[in-house]
Amino acid sequence: MSRPYLWRRCSTGSPGLGRMVRRCAMNGGEGPNSYARNSSYQKGVVDVAKPIIEEEISRKLNIKHLSSTFRIADFGCSTGHNSCAAMQIITEAIMRRFEIEGLISQIPDFYVFFNDKVTNDFNTLFDSLPRERLYSAAGVPGSFHGRLLPGAALDFAYSSCSLNWLSEVPKAVLDNTSPAWNRGKIHYAGARREVREEYASQYAKDIESFLDCRAEELVPGGLMALLVPAVPASWDPNSAYTTTTEIYLFGSCFMDMAKTGRFSEAKVDSFNIPVYLPIPQEFKAIIERNDKYTIERMEVLDNPAGKHYLAGPKARAAYWRAASEGMLIDHFGSEIIEELFDRYTKKLAASPLFSDPNCDKSIIMFVLLQRKPESCSSGS
Ligand SMILES: C[S@@+](CC[C@H](N)C(=O)[O-])C[C@H]1O[C@@H](n2cnc3c(N)ncnc32)[C@H](O)[C@@H]1O
Repeated sequence: MSRPYLWRRCSTGSPGLGRMVRRCAMNGGEGPNSYARNSSYQKGVVDVAKPIIEEEISRKLNIKHLSSTFRIADFGCSTGHNSCAAMQIITEAIMRRFEIEGLISQIPDFYVFFNDKVTNDFNTLFDSLPRERLYSAAGVPGSFHGRLLPGAALDFAYSSCSLNWLSEVPKAVLDNTSPAWNRGKIHYAGARREVREEYASQYAKDIESFLDCRAEELVPGGLMALLVPAVPASWDPNSAYTTTTEIYLFGSCFMDMAKTGRFSEAKVDSFNIPVYLPIPQEFKAIIERNDKYTIERMEVLDNPAGKHYLAGPKARAAYWRAASEGMLIDHFGSEIIEELFDRYTKKLAASPLFSDPNCDKSIIMFVLLQRKPESCSSGS
């Protein structure tokens, strides 16, 4: 049976950028440019987080008061390989708790809700589910910045490498009458302070919505494990880089192409990448303002496994292509893609800094939150 049109093309043609951002997902399928084949960095994140997730489930999960079904959701699961690995880790860790406490007869039925945007290739996800697994699975398409599940339906929420995607590009950065207009750039990296502030404020709004919606969906006392891409408060640009500096380099390829006449500079001005990388203190402040959770654990993972996987300019460019190709095609057309990523790969290769994965100072935050029981009614 042929796969549906849905994941091949990420938009039905609406020129509105906000709409585009909502609709574009990672590259589907299992081909050379697919997310499935180019997400070993994100798999590295799951590997590094595994012992921490297991430890927290064994310490924090109160299995005495569980019902006969245990419901887990992965928010921003993409096409599944990494998500399946994470769901395996979580369900096995919970099952071990029951075994250790001699409660084998009370092991619940596990249900996993896989969430992503409606354009996500859910076919590949369901194809990749392991035959031997402890859970029943369901797809939940839609934006995680809004409500997706019934109230108090979830025992455990999880999200990895997804919360850095904004619900939309901040409007002011595309508005040529605004002080935050981001002329000639595709991101806040290397841009003026006003641009960065617009991105930061959109991120804060988006994370607040995410936290509010999950607070309604989680049972009181329910746990939420988040793996959030971030940057350190500072780094030396002469000897190190982060995801934001990489996006800056990527952005320079657009202006190079505009100068050769491949597209207009106005086309670049009307495009921005909806990705934000907070510093840990910034993320913590958003959670504390929300007040519906206690922070049970928060720490920085320096993700050595991920750095290892992304060694080499080709792998780095392919990783970014798998994540951004849909929205690039939507705005610039498919005819620019090969040249764009060829230029980007060459720029990465020419830089001694970007060629050395040890110079990568990007970080991943592990955050474990617990839904506060007392905010059940006041929070909604
Ligand atoms: C880099 S991938 C991470 C996928 C997976 N969690 C992993 O670790 O491999 C980010 C995912 O978040 C999804 N995403 C971004 N914004 C979203 C939103 N508002 N609602 C649901 N999914 C979203 C993207 O479509 C994409 O599949």
